[in-house]
Amino acid sequence: MLIKNLRRFSFVDRLRRLQRVWKYQIVSEVSRYWQENRILNANPEFSLLLGAYRQIYADSAAANLVSWLERKDSFRQDVDDLTYGETPFTTWLALIPLMQLQPHEKFAELGCGTGILSLYLSFCQGVSATGVDTIETFITNANQLAMQFQLPAEFRTLSVLDLDLNEFQVMYCVATCFSEATRKALALKMADCKPGTRILVVTHEMEHPRLQKQTELKLPFTWGRDTVYLYEIQADLEV
Ligand SMILES: C[S@@+](CC[C@H](N)C(=O)[O-])C[C@H]1O[C@@H](n2cnc3c(N)ncnc32)[C@H](O)[C@@H]1O
Repeated sequence: MLIKNLRRFSFVDRLRRLQRVWKYQIVSEVSRYWQENRILNANPEFSLLLGAYRQIYADSAAANLVSWLERKDSFRQDVDDLTYGETPFTTWLALIPLMQLQPHEKFAELGCGTGILSLYLSFCQGVSATGVDTIETFITNANQLAMQFQLPAEFRTLSVLDLDLNEFQVMYCVATCFSEATRKALALKMADCKPGTRILVVTHEMEHPRLQKQTELKLPFTWGRDTVYLYEIQADLEV
């Protein structure tokens, strides 16, 4: 069938089509299967939530489409800050130990997308998690999953710059597409958090004397390998 359809196109067109089929239907399917296998090996019971999640977003392309359509409908398609991408499950599994989440601590995901990373923490570790994003559909769907599984997780349609970060002891932020202005404003807010707060930031270093870098590491993301920085908020400096 595929070969029959391809005959209608020029050789270059055929190559392009085959390349797209290879990239979006074969490679991404294999990668999704591999990622899900790894997270289910770590936590088999997560299959319940993952199954419900996949009813909403069949794959990463479906989530991307939700973001794109909402940005288009709200005339925000040119806002680069809102570009969608995902932290793969294997990367998330590598980052969780770095955060050293304690049972009483609250976690926030700044720019949570579909919210699946926060939902995972809540479902598998009972973590009290909050996710914010300005794409309302993501937030509605994530709250629906949190309610369905009675999780200590909540999601808000809110800019990261409008969230009170002082409520949280641990944060995760994929700042890859955030503008310089957003990153500067966010660094100031982060620096105002209580000493001991741990913050993971992807792609960009956050510049502030109270944000002390603990470590950095390179990990895979849906857009390629990228750097994750772990910061800890320092106590006020003596003057
Ligand atoms: C690259 S995605 C990361 C999604 C998810 N955290 C993950 O790692 O898989 C970044 C998300 O940040 C959201 N975002 C961008 N700027 C934001 C802002 N100022 N406030 C809230 N969310 C924002 C985007 O809509 C997008 O869903």
